[in-house]
Amino acid sequence: MDLYEYQAKDLFAAHGVPVLPGSVAHTPGEARAIAARLDQTVVVKAQVKTGGRGKAGGVKLAKTAEDAEAKAGAILGLDIKGHVTRKVLVTPASDIDEEYYVSFLLDRANRTFLAMASAEGGMEIEQLAVERPEALAKIPVDAIAGVDAAKAREIVAAGTFPAQVADQVVDVLVKLWRTFVEEDATLVEVNPLVRDPQGRVIALDGKVTLDDNASFRHPGHAELVDSEAEDPLEAKAKAKDLNYVKLDGQVGIIGNGAGLVMSTLDVVAYAGERWGGVKPANFLDIGGGASAEVMANGLEIILSDPDVRSVFVNVFGGITACDEVAKGIVRALEILGDEARKPLVVRLDGNNVDEGRRILAEANHQLVNVVDTMDNAADKAAELATTDLLAGSSNSTTSGA
Ligand SMILES: Nc1ncnc2c1ncn2[C@@H]1O[C@H](COP(=O)(O)OP(=O)(O)O)[C@@H](O)[C@H]1O
Ligand SMILES: [Mg+2]
Repeated sequence: MDLYEYQAKDLFAAHGVPVLPGSVAHTPGEARAIAARLDQTVVVKAQVKTGGRGKAGGVKLAKTAEDAEAKAGAILGLDIKGHVTRKVLVTPASDIDEEYYVSFLLDRANRTFLAMASAEGGMEIEQLAVERPEALAKIPVDAIAGVDAAKAREIVAAGTFPAQVADQVVDVLVKLWRTFVEEDATLVEVNPLVRDPQGRVIALDGKVTLDDNASFRHPGHAELVDSEAEDPLEAKAKAKDLNYVKLDGQVGIIGNGAGLVMSTLDVVAYAGERWGGVKPANFLDIGGGASAEVMANGLEIILSDPDVRSVFVNVFGGITACDEVAKGIVRALEILGDEARKPLVVRLDGNNVDEGRRILAEANHQLVNVVDTMDNAADKAAELATTDLLAGSSNSTTSGA
């Protein structure tokens, strides 16, 4: 889970990383009240889970409370790389002498953690990484040894931080590493970390990604979830304990087992190229021992996605035999009744496949197309996604040849 800047900075503050105070406003009026309370020049900052807010006009200086209200009015509703701004952070404006960059992240490719640091931080960091990669130090961090003051000094030296701020940046790095470990993050990033004219080092921005697999260890993290910003279908799936990820295509996908579903996405994307670039609309793994009810829950979520034009149910009977799955599909369509209005392509194989196909043939549901092979089923699903929804509900139980 990615956090908003204000949430990231709350975590930083809890671990002793220096940040500025501030509050979140949902309306221009609230922004004005916060600015009046702070009683100084403030910065109004879009809270969206993407970077580049400064360049997109999502970070604005305001000298008075009235000005903060006007700036909030301009930023609220702003679309930043597809993220609509629904709240702003109002925080004191800092004078900035220098901008630095520091981060810790999980380096999957090298099976380690990585510290990145540069004395040249700020909004051009991506450009710096491309044009002068040597100016962005990358130091592996051993998971067991972690980051103590000595390791932090190594990072500070590699990032060529000025001597004047070295001690403070060392302190920030040790505390950021503690944040990274104790909160089970996969990324903590500060850009910019600044030095103000008084020589203080402060984190002016914060980016944190928490590892959802560790959420059971952090009951407190639940309140960081922003249900407003969550995809409604993903939220519904989570509530029903389904492994669902929304994608941007047109063919709904249900399968049993993560590996099978992953390869189904590939096969559909490949077949879709023949049909004008049709793509998978989601990932949904209903797991090994899926009951009829689980199948119904899965189908319900996929069919309620307005982007879905056809559904590909790809099941390999193992622990759950194909006849059980077939009963599940039939039962799911009974449960859904008129709500089911999109064509289904079903490919069954494996344990008890003949009985499974017989059950589907007998049910003879007008939306269901049974196809024997995965490739042909993917092709059929892609084809159906391109045809008109009503015309797409064929009445046949075909055999893919
Ligand atoms: N509190 C602040 N006071 C002064 N300038 C700020 C403040 N917060 C951000 N800025 C300036 O705005 C720039 C962009 O803000 P930042 O929070 O880094 O957003 P993003 O990384 O999304 O562009 C920073 O590099 C910094 O120069
Ligand atoms: Mg930034």
